[in-house]
Amino acid sequence: MREFNIGIIGLGNIGLEVYKNIKKNSSDIKKKTGFKLNILKVSAKNLRKKRGIKIPNKLLEKNYLEIIKNPKINIVVELIGGADGIAKKVVFDSIKNKKHVVTANKALIAKHGDQLSILAEKNGVNLLFEAAVGGGIPIIRSIKQGLIANKLHHIYGILNGTTNYILTEMEKRNLNFKDVLKDAQKLGYAEANPTADVDGHDAAAKISILSSIGFGTKIINNGFLVEGIRKIEIEDIKFAKDLGYKIKLLAISERLGKYIKQRVHPCLIPINLDVANIDNVTNAIVVDGNPIGRTIYEGPGAGKGPTSSAVISDITSIMLGNDEFSFGLSPSAKKNVHLFNFNNHISKYYIRFLTKDVPGVLSTITSNLAKNKISVANLIQEPSNNGNANVMLITHFSKESNIQRVLKNLNKQKKLFKKIVMIRVRDLKKL
Ligand code: HSE
Repeated sequence: MREFNIGIIGLGNIGLEVYKNIKKNSSDIKKKTGFKLNILKVSAKNLRKKRGIKIPNKLLEKNYLEIIKNPKINIVVELIGGADGIAKKVVFDSIKNKKHVVTANKALIAKHGDQLSILAEKNGVNLLFEAAVGGGIPIIRSIKQGLIANKLHHIYGILNGTTNYILTEMEKRNLNFKDVLKDAQKLGYAEANPTADVDGHDAAAKISILSSIGFGTKIINNGFLVEGIRKIEIEDIKFAKDLGYKIKLLAISERLGKYIKQRVHPCLIPINLDVANIDNVTNAIVVDGNPIGRTIYEGPGAGKGPTSSAVISDITSIMLGNDEFSFGLSPSAKKNVHLFNFNNHISKYYIRFLTKDVPGVLSTITSNLAKNKISVANLIQEPSNNGNANVMLITHFSKESNIQRVLKNLNKQKKLFKKIVMIRVRDLKKL
């Protein structure tokens, strides 16, 4: 066969960009792969929508089911999104019809990736999803192929551009979360329903995928800690800065013997740590393993250009005959997961109490900490409005379960504590 035919299902921002970039670069693709790449069909919910370019009528397919059945199509490109619904049907049925599949759909892969990779192997086709993690950064192929000789033990980074943009703007413009979110929505950086990004679910799906690839385990797609950035206020960012920290939403996965410790939560990170200065929508991922040591990958984590770059890289990888396993190893070789019990996590903790400025507040806080074997490293109090005060502290290394017990006790005292914000501190000495 001297040519490949693809069908693109989903013509939103990304689908359209993939279409345009394949058209624009078709002669380069031919030179670099040795094959001609034809877009045989495209399908979208509304084919009549104005898209600013003319797509020939013969390419337009009203019914996506015709694409996944079309015997001339070798590769189906799913760009609809969503863990279930049409996207799921497209991907499952295409593979059953022995078509290679390329998708940018992290939610679908995080939820159904194990099952899909088994199906792909059974049907002798590729299922590739480079665009699902880190936008344009070729992180999946780097781990699967570039680092194939390594045993990885640590993968972490900033995997969500929207939240990184919000945190950057909060700091730059001295604004609160809600105000920056509103602006970000107006500018199109955040979705009208921002939950997937701001509550950490998007980053969670991405670290689930990387963790499975990096550690050769089945996908952990629930039961692990996922916290977003809604609770963070400008006071937290300022206090962190005064102590030499930045606040970032990190997705982290570590291999600790047979255990995988995977989580997503905001962190105070030392200003001189690699990912502390990755701002705006940029993503950065640190991958640590033996024998290579520590490597960092940085680049645009979202947007139509970077995402289309990753999608086309998957398509051409199939054309080049790279018979890749979806997760870097045969699905039957994937190990079962033993998830680390996060109650045993050890960290320094930042805690801010918005409290009534009355006698006894500090002693209530410190006696609760002492009772739970938590020792304070830094403490500062600043008056706030209406007779309130912010008491902010950083603990020495403490156990998560002890911190949770303190938070539970003090959160019950509603008359005294109006708000309690806890953020874990990522200290270089103990990652
Ligand atoms: N919503 C994602 C982000 C981009 O903000 O990073 C797509 O993965």
